[in-house]
Amino acid sequence: MKETKFYLIADPHYFASELGCSGDEYEDFMHYEQKCFAETENINKSVFDFLKKADESDILLIAGDLIFNGEKKSHEGFLKLLNSLKDHGKKIYVVTADHDFKRNAGDTFAFGENGRYSPEHTTRDELTKLYADFGFGDAIAIDKEHLSYVAQISDNVRLLALNCDLKENGKYYFYPEQIEWIKEQTAKAREDGQIMFAMCHYPIIPGQPLFSLISPMIIRDAHKFASFLADEGVHMIFTGHMHNQSINVITTENGNKLYDITTGSIIADPAVIRHITIKDENTVEIKSIPTPDFEWDTEGKTCKEYLSDMFDRMIVNVLTDMRDDTQRMMNKFHLEDKGATKKILGIAGKFICSVKVGTLAKLLFIKCHKSIKKMRVLDYATELVRGAFEGNQTFKEGTPKGDVFVALLRRIRFILKKIDVKGWDGKKADLYDILKNTAGNYDIDDYNATLILK
Ligand SMILES: [Fe+2]
Ligand SMILES: [Fe+2]
Repeated sequence: MKETKFYLIADPHYFASELGCSGDEYEDFMHYEQKCFAETENINKSVFDFLKKADESDILLIAGDLIFNGEKKSHEGFLKLLNSLKDHGKKIYVVTADHDFKRNAGDTFAFGENGRYSPEHTTRDELTKLYADFGFGDAIAIDKEHLSYVAQISDNVRLLALNCDLKENGKYYFYPEQIEWIKEQTAKAREDGQIMFAMCHYPIIPGQPLFSLISPMIIRDAHKFASFLADEGVHMIFTGHMHNQSINVITTENGNKLYDITTGSIIADPAVIRHITIKDENTVEIKSIPTPDFEWDTEGKTCKEYLSDMFDRMIVNVLTDMRDDTQRMMNKFHLEDKGATKKILGIAGKFICSVKVGTLAKLLFIKCHKSIKKMRVLDYATELVRGAFEGNQTFKEGTPKGDVFVALLRRIRFILKKIDVKGWDGKKADLYDILKNTAGNYDIDDYNATLILK
């Protein structure tokens, strides 16, 4: 068969700057933000300029959260970019997600001259019409109710574009009738001898093991749904949402595989564009390209450096506020001051901000390589968290930073064993394993990999 190639981006979160993104309230909002706001228009423009010239494929897939937060004006601006790429002969397929619409007029926000206000919003019903030229319009099958469709992207490859943007009890989920529709489409693809892969904004396999324990980060019955797709012959799904970069795989009881390739946002660290080649029905090559530099006063930093510093600033702000402004930090994460929560957080903040890794290691009778002894725990923690989002995490056994982390986990393993929490597969979670594999990537390369589907 002929190879099928395409580019893919996730979470472009385009924001029409004309709506307003400056002032004190804006700065206050950005204090704990990991993604850009004012810069998104320019980053998107530079990515689309890159894609216009990119000659390895004429197909682009976008895995949802197209705009910032439901503003009508942002859709208008983003559609201009899509249309100009289309005019360059490119074919674009999108899925939408919950940042692309709002239920109520007051749910959007921007920061104009008079501070925070709500610009005009987009409703969910408007999305299929708005994006008719970018997937919904020439789909070979469509489930309008659930904003899902099937598109023939090459002679032998079909895209199953899925959406599950409605929540129940805080979790996104696929409706039973939508699952029936998917079953019909996968059966049809098998009947027609087509390779079918999926795209959905929300990850099916948790991007990092730790995400599997944080309820809003995974969809309802995710493990069951992953197995369902794999057994239906869909062996690959492209997702976004968490703004992290990862490739994970599960094998079902029947021996079928599903890979979930989660791509980071282009407007937040690690800022990546994927390039995918379906070589044959069993082999797929994944490559990652850094988001190009954009027009902005970045003080000489590349796009990657600028966004990675922004990520660090968010973590540092959270941790230093734990010490200096505990209440502000608690308000942000909706933490109630039950018992001594505030006091404990304050003490933890003081410790993290002042202690060095060498001192911490000494306190716990852990060996520590001299190269990181003088590193602040604050910087160590920041790098650790950033790694979990960037993928190919480097805190692995056998490295100075990884050895300290794994030794620390061993010290507290007896406590971790007593904590009874369920993993995404419904079985008791092995917290030692989860934390170790979140800090260090021991399996598939999250950026460039050759996937064997069967
Ligand atoms: Fe997003
Ligand atoms: Fe999202």
